[in-house]
Amino acid sequence: MKIFTMPSINEVQDNNDSYLGQFIPLHYHHHMLISEYRMGAFKTAIEQTVFPGAKILELGGGTGVLSWFAAAKAEKVWCVEYNPDLVKEATRLLKLNTGSEHIEVIQGDAFTYLPPEPVDLVICEMLHPAMLVEKQINVIKHFKERYTQHISSTLPRFLPEAVILAVQPIQQNYVFMGFHAPIIEFQIPETNYSDTQELAEPLVYSTVDFSKEISEEFSWEGEFTLETGTVNALRFITKNILCISGPDNDITEWHNPHMILPLPEPIVAKAGDLLQVSFNYSAGGSLSQLQNSIKATLVRPWDSVKPT
Ligand SMILES: C[S@@+](CC[C@H](N)C(=O)[O-])C[C@H]1O[C@@H](n2cnc3c(N)ncnc32)[C@H](O)[C@@H]1O
Repeated sequence: MKIFTMPSINEVQDNNDSYLGQFIPLHYHHHMLISEYRMGAFKTAIEQTVFPGAKILELGGGTGVLSWFAAAKAEKVWCVEYNPDLVKEATRLLKLNTGSEHIEVIQGDAFTYLPPEPVDLVICEMLHPAMLVEKQINVIKHFKERYTQHISSTLPRFLPEAVILAVQPIQQNYVFMGFHAPIIEFQIPETNYSDTQELAEPLVYSTVDFSKEISEEFSWEGEFTLETGTVNALRFITKNILCISGPDNDITEWHNPHMILPLPEPIVAKAGDLLQVSFNYSAGGSLSQLQNSIKATLVRPWDSVKPT
């Protein structure tokens, strides 16, 4: 007899299509395909890094679109995707597009797959704000270990090459038609939001260079000098350096949406006050892991000055 047991909340979050976890559900891929900002940046970066005759590995191929961009010049593209629905879709969609003959779609796990021969470039777009949820950092770190052990001591190039992570204190309007709801939200980069007031310049808390040693842990402490306002949220900024190319080292970059995490308690600040912030989390971890670790404390510089 089959006994139905309720999954734990964590299992629900891991498995339910309505949560955008590591495996992006099929119906979400349209959002990625229609983003000219995302697609344009990746297409440019791929055009600049793939050379005629190159061998390419894509980890997390989805619909196959980035592999298809690469196939315009590459001799061979291995497009690895875990989700069987997407493997089927990528195979169907690539057949609709000329120039995809040398793309091989493989159902495989990016954590274990290795190409049959050395590759020149690894494309991987498992990029989530703050490098949470999706497993970009974990996948690339473990790929490098396997690759140098079994394929070649010379690593391929990675696209993206690096990720720069920053954080900024803000005052966010959380009132929606009179309803007060301080909840996680995402913003389109380079867009002015009238409901957001920046209270200090962002500070970089990590730079991940995929060609170097990669840590799967983030741990940071820093201090912001504030403008007058009420700090009620931190905005996390994730800038992906897709490639650096050409004689002038031109950078092709793409920002993930900014992620805004509300603080448990708002902090009223005057210009010149200092905000000490700390947090720690694991790459590929949950949003709540980061959110629960955040500590924000106001320090008034003049409080520590004793009257003479
Ligand atoms: C953000 S999507 C990008 C898809 C495609 N590369 C694009 O740019 O449109 C990430 C893809 O990685 C796949 N993925 C996640 N974890 C994976 C793993 N361990 N092995 C293989 N594919 C994985 C997801 O199913 C999803 O299709």
